[in-house]
Amino acid sequence: MKVLVFGGTGRTGRLIAQWLVKNGHTVIAAGRRDPQIEGVAYRAVNLSDASAVRTAAEGMDAAISALASGKDNPVCSEVAQALSEMEGLRFITIAGSGLDAPGDAKGALDRFIGWLLRRLMPHMIADRERELGILQASRLRWTMLRPPLLNNKPSTGRYQTTFDRPASRGISRADLARAVVDALEDGALIGRAPFVAG
Ligand SMILES: NC(=O)c1ccc[n+]([C@@H]2O[C@H](COP(=O)([O-])OP(=O)(O)OC[C@H]3O[C@@H](n4cnc5c(N)ncnc54)[C@H](OP(=O)(O)O)[C@@H]3O)[C@@H](O)[C@H]2O)c1
Repeated sequence: MKVLVFGGTGRTGRLIAQWLVKNGHTVIAAGRRDPQIEGVAYRAVNLSDASAVRTAAEGMDAAISALASGKDNPVCSEVAQALSEMEGLRFITIAGSGLDAPGDAKGALDRFIGWLLRRLMPHMIADRERELGILQASRLRWTMLRPPLLNNKPSTGRYQTTFDRPASRGISRADLARAVVDALEDGALIGRAPFVAG
């Protein structure tokens, strides 16, 4: 597949790009900095410029967002909005288990963690809620993965995908990268926002 990666300089995005290359995909990183990963081409793109984002995604089979929004930096929803009319494009984005989605049946602790995150990082959660709404109304073949707390441990090669609540409270970025790449070809995840946990 030809895959465009947003956030390829990030801690998870870098692992995703490397794992894509290892699995024989053609990978282009799009963003404000070149991740300088062997086998990964780079295209400088202002991700707040919707037409530049769309141009970068033209001719690609899939796009992956490992972006992290900040205060005054709603980059996740901006990219989703820019791509939203690209019918048929496979789009995978990483949000977090603190985000609520239809069909959730979280236990008390997970609901509390979500409440805490909304208090501590309201801009981040608001941007993710907006991103999910854009995806649900879009023409994309989208999947939003919702991992819990990330760590930098080595890959175990295993992860759990669930639809109602997270199966655990952590996952390594390396295992998450595998889950993202696996999701590219998993039609059962299209139009869904599963939890993925270690
Ligand atoms: N940390 C956790 O425990 C946790 C838990 C659950 C989910 N998540 C989610 O998992 C994902 C990956 O997390 P991470 O820790 O691997 O991310 P990270 O290392 O913080 O990387 C963030 C990436 O976003 C890019 N970015 C942010 N704003 C941008 C902009 N305006 N234009 C271009 N690029 C921009 C950064 O690019 P530059 O290098 O150019 O800055 C970087 O590549 C994120 O979506 C995060 O919200 C994290």
